[in-house]
Amino acid sequence: PPGLPGPPGQVGPVGFKGDKGIVLGPMGIPGTNGKHGIPGTVGVRGDPGIPGPKGEPGFPGPKGTSIVQRRSAFSVGISPRKSFPPSGFPVRFDKVFYNEDNHFNVTTNSFTCIYAGIYVFSFHITVRNQPLRATLVVNGSRKVRIRDSLYGQDIDQASTLVVLPLNEGDQVWVETLRDWNGVYASTEDDSIFSGFLLYPNNI
Ligand SMILES: *[C@@H]1O[C@H](CO)[C@@H](O)[C@H](O)[C@H]1NC(C)=O
Ligand SMILES: *[C@@H]1O[C@H](CO)[C@@H](O)[C@H](O)[C@H]1NC(C)=O
Repeated sequence: PPGLPGPPGQVGPVGFKGDKGIVLGPMGIPGTNGKHGIPGTVGVRGDPGIPGPKGEPGFPGPKGTSIVQRRSAFSVGISPRKSFPPSGFPVRFDKVFYNEDNHFNVTTNSFTCIYAGIYVFSFHITVRNQPLRATLVVNGSRKVRIRDSLYGQDIDQASTLVVLPLNEGDQVWVETLRDWNGVYASTEDDSIFSGFLLYPNNI
């Protein structure tokens, strides 16, 4: 007859790892947007564009204020009856070629400087019968001298030109020296004293 059942056996060793299960449940709902990234670095500057077309001319500007033009000029000669003027006085020039502003005073026979500046003076004297020494006098001082030692009926011409600075009020005239006053004029010969402002000071 069968014996009694034996005691339970010992636990067996661990079995081998099973195969991988079958894939995946259904896809999840999309997540929310991520945060903005950090701004990139500034790009390189591009090349300049082509120049645009020329604009229309502007309107003319307003009229400027005019400056007073400083003018001074004269040219005077002597008439034949004033030949051989007395020495030691301003030679009398009574034949006016130009003296628009009367800066040469035909009463005193001298030029008065109205505008301080640089002036040009010249004289061209016809010489006859007597020798000539003539000087350009500025405010009483003899600045420029010329001489022509001609005697008799020959005719000569003595002349000079000078550039001088003058101050307002300065007076300029021509004088002859004693016994040397051969300043001559006829219908064919003039003796002329001229002066003009080359440019004024302080403009
Ligand atoms: C010329 O000089 C005289 C004498 O000084 C004067 O009486 C006269 O007014 C002057 N003439 C001019 C145009 O300045
Ligand atoms: C020249 O004389 C005039 C008139 O007398 C005077 O006004 C002026 O200051 C003098 N000029 C000089 C440089 O002496």
